Amino acid sequence: MRLLVFAAICVSACATPDPCAELTPNGNPFVTEVPDGLMAQILAEPTLSFPPSFAFGAATASYQVESGNDASDWALWEDLGRISGDDVANDGPAHDRYFAEDVERMRGLGLDSYRLSIEWGRLFPTRAQFDALEVDPLALAYYSALLDTLVANGIKPMVTLHHFTLPAWLQAPPAVSPAGLLEPEYPALLAKFAEWAGAEFGDRVDYWITINEPSGVAAGGFIEGSFPPGRLLDFDAFKLAYENIAYGHARAYDALRAADTRDADGDGLATQISFATHNRLWLPLEASREEDVRGAKRVRYISGLTHLDAAVCGNVDRNLDARLDAGRDRIGDASLKGRLDFIALNFYGTSYASGLDLEPYLALPVLSNSATTRPRNDMGWDLAPESLIAVLDELKPYGLPIYVTENGLADAADNRRPKFMVDTLATIAWANKNGHDVRGYYHWTLLDNFEWAHGFCPRFGLFEVDFSDATRPRREREGARVYKQIIAKRAVAPELRGKYSYGDAVICR
Ligand code: BGC
Repeated sequence: MRLLVFAAICVSACATPDPCAELTPNGNPFVTEVPDGLMAQILAEPTLSFPPSFAFGAATASYQVESGNDASDWALWEDLGRISGDDVANDGPAHDRYFAEDVERMRGLGLDSYRLSIEWGRLFPTRAQFDALEVDPLALAYYSALLDTLVANGIKPMVTLHHFTLPAWLQAPPAVSPAGLLEPEYPALLAKFAEWAGAEFGDRVDYWITINEPSGVAAGGFIEGSFPPGRLLDFDAFKLAYENIAYGHARAYDALRAADTRDADGDGLATQISFATHNRLWLPLEASREEDVRGAKRVRYISGLTHLDAAVCGNVDRNLDARLDAGRDRIGDASLKGRLDFIALNFYGTSYASGLDLEPYLALPVLSNSATTRPRNDMGWDLAPESLIAVLDELKPYGLPIYVTENGLADAADNRRPKFMVDTLATIAWANKNGHDVRGYYHWTLLDNFEWAHGFCPRFGLFEVDFSDATRPRREREGARVYKQIIAKRAVAPELRGKYSYGDAVICR
């Protein structure tokens, strides 16, 4: 429906479509399957290259790669036995100890940029310290040294402020108070953290992500119950969190813009700010079943578009019914809109939705394990790099440049990563030839890490980590070597295309 509206506007005025002309109800355009033959068409393109300005990167999150983040809500979550195999993040790759060597590895790959997050509870372990902005000196020294090392090696940092974890003084499971994302002061607290970070690190950082995956963190905490505070199907809390996070992003955006006026890399841009949105291509489990189509549209909207509507247009659909109702919803709220400088897209592939009529999610995601004949990663997710095109089409009306801020796969055997890298980067180069504006790609992830409630079983790293050895040795995987070749040529060379095939998955427990 929205596509028709845009077409009509362009025919009459030939102006850039206004993404705020109406709510993005159900995604635009809505496709029900990954087009057959698209990947082959992409790989047949004679030249698939990237301009010098394109940012090749890798991404991590502090809690997943560092040790000693004991003042975070996830440390308490671990104590409650909520992690598969009772794994604990402290047994992870110890990036905080080995960051200098890890930056060397990044340089070896030829990376232009590195997305990392800073751990709020590590920097400010108590509420009193945060109120007084008395930062923990060791934590500050570590992040400062990491940023310095990156800059000295010509690798531009992109920094996330809130990547799933909160300080334990803001959320302390099993206690229900303080209530984390539901705390009315969450937006102001995040803004204060943003202001501090912008002032402290802005001389080295120009790219900021306020919040990683707003809908994902709220769904994990209030619908699926796999993240703290662990509530199941609490739709009212999910709606409250949606609104609070929308304001959290906007307030943090304003704070960063005010605090960081320094252009760290001399490219004329001092501060570029986004949140990271996780948009899969949600498909109906059965394309012929109306309720599955409705479910896929619902979950696409709620998980991938609502926060963009808030940050770009100032629209908050408070009851998530995909309509803007005067008197209840926030429409064109000037304190929210116009606060996105680029779209940070976390993209992993396709998933399938069924049509369980449950408010407000209306479709509970049914991951693709049973629905697909496609190759899968070790978590059962489809491998479908070309489905990125449909997601980019859906995001295009917002009219913003896109950075793929996460993309990767759990592949302990490293028997799918090489082809996945080739096909994904080929798809991005092809998308740019066909009217899209993707300016960077950050592979998830640099090192095998702590995969939240799944613990250490899923292996996402370009570098394998031996967790049984006290020195946590890293070993380069073939997927990393493929990435290195693509970066060196700034192109997906013909000889790489079709060179690899997908092996079998070793599905994690
Ligand atoms: C998250 C990462 C996570 C990755 C793989 C993303 O949604 O931002 O923290 O490790 O997915 O599951």
